[in-house]
Amino acid sequence: MSTTVRAAAKINLHLGVGAPREDGFHPLDTVYQAISLYDDVTVAEAEEDSLSVAGSPYIDVRDVPGDASNIAVRALAEAACRSPHHVRITKQIPVAGGMAGGSADAAAALLAHDRLHGLAQPDEVLLAQAARLGSDVPFSLVGGTARGRGRGEVVEPVTDRGSWWWVVVPAGTGLSTPDVYRHFDRLHPDAPAQPAEPTGLLAALASREPVRLARTLHNDLQESAIDLRPELGALIERGEAEGALRGMVSGSGPTCVFLCDSQEGAMAVMAALSASYDVVLPAVGPVAGAHVVEVL
Ligand code: C5P
Repeated sequence: MSTTVRAAAKINLHLGVGAPREDGFHPLDTVYQAISLYDDVTVAEAEEDSLSVAGSPYIDVRDVPGDASNIAVRALAEAACRSPHHVRITKQIPVAGGMAGGSADAAAALLAHDRLHGLAQPDEVLLAQAARLGSDVPFSLVGGTARGRGRGEVVEPVTDRGSWWWVVVPAGTGLSTPDVYRHFDRLHPDAPAQPAEPTGLLAALASREPVRLARTLHNDLQESAIDLRPELGALIERGEAEGALRGMVSGSGPTCVFLCDSQEGAMAVMAALSASYDVVLPAVGPVAGAHVVEVL
């Protein structure tokens, strides 16, 4: 028997970052949006534990841990799973790209394991397991558009009346999230304890107006990511010159995302950027959180 769960990539429409806490994590006030790039995770009963990873043509599966350190495998341990399983991950979400691909795999594995064994654990239990696996994992379960506080793990849905078009440009080589946060600390030794709030952005999401949303997008990690990868600054300028309403680094990067005014607008920006960048993907958001797509 096996169960397959699909989980989406996330972007941060707002990422307010405060000074590091005593545990080393940064307090966040963020607004996540799940967008239409997905990983599928199948959890199957097996004779012994094993893992396989397959990817879209633009993903180098060698960048994904192929052993028990993989976060989807760690998710089964977190779920106190005792019997052996085969875990199969099919990736579409860029690896180490700032789009929570690993978190999506963890959320999908938690849900697949729960459903495979008919556990039907309450949401609070799955969300608590998710939070122990990583700051973004609870959001990957919830999906849609949601505000994240704490270190990002305390999620609460927000009103989003729009259906927003994005163009996504992954980078060939990932950036390490801890490195980007460490660089943020170097650039902002006096960061306030309280992260910036997404007030204008929440109103823009309810308004359905892309131009308004574009004006209120905000990422405190963008400066650090661009400092570590200066070519991201040029990419953002180029996308905006080609007609995107706004370009930004996704989370800790290096993937960049471009908000467009419509599907046609997104196709035009995609066509223009495809002349210079190998991988340029369209996406729409918000989309659902982790959900079962196949039971065999
Ligand atoms: O929680 P997660 O495992 O995704 O975090 C990865 C790393 O990113 C952490 O070890 C930490 O260095 C950094 N991080 C942080 N503050 C957060 C979230 C992540 O400093 N709120």
